[in-house]
Amino acid sequence: MAILKIYTYPDEVLRRRAEPVEDGGDSAFQELISDMVETMYDAPGIGLAAPQVGVSKRLCVVDITSGEDPGALLVLVNPEITETWEKDTREEGCLSVPGFFYEVTRPSRISVRFQDRHGQPAELLAEGLLARAIQHEIDHLNGVLFVDRLGLVKKELFKRRYRQNLSEAVVS
Ligand code: NI
Repeated sequence: MAILKIYTYPDEVLRRRAEPVEDGGDSAFQELISDMVETMYDAPGIGLAAPQVGVSKRLCVVDITSGEDPGALLVLVNPEITETWEKDTREEGCLSVPGFFYEVTRPSRISVRFQDRHGQPAELLAEGLLARAIQHEIDHLNGVLFVDRLGLVKKELFKRRYRQNLSEAVVS
């Protein structure tokens, strides 16, 4: 297993619509999943999508317990949200946008259809933080970052702060 490099904003791999997974059974794919899980726990984060490690495929891993509950790890291949209910607003962050946290409004309950790491079809009802994490990761598969979901003013503020941080990092 290996810790993978996490690509950060504004890298263009984060903006691409990821390709469906069709090689679910092969060992390279299984290794990618294991590496993504290790990378997520190492970061640490509660979710990681393949485009964040430079792989434009429809695959993400989620564990809202950050590894504390071994049964909580979810591997979602070709995930699709089939239904949503209600909405709530909560602060989010992203390993690809380090250091920035903003409130985002999303459906609070979802139904998601996907394949597991071995290609078996599955369906899941999720709510609260889990529903939010899954939606955030599926956004990544569509080239969408959580800061895209901010209002215009907040988004401009984010861009300006981000550029400022980058130029300060280069100077020091
Ligand atoms: Ni993210």
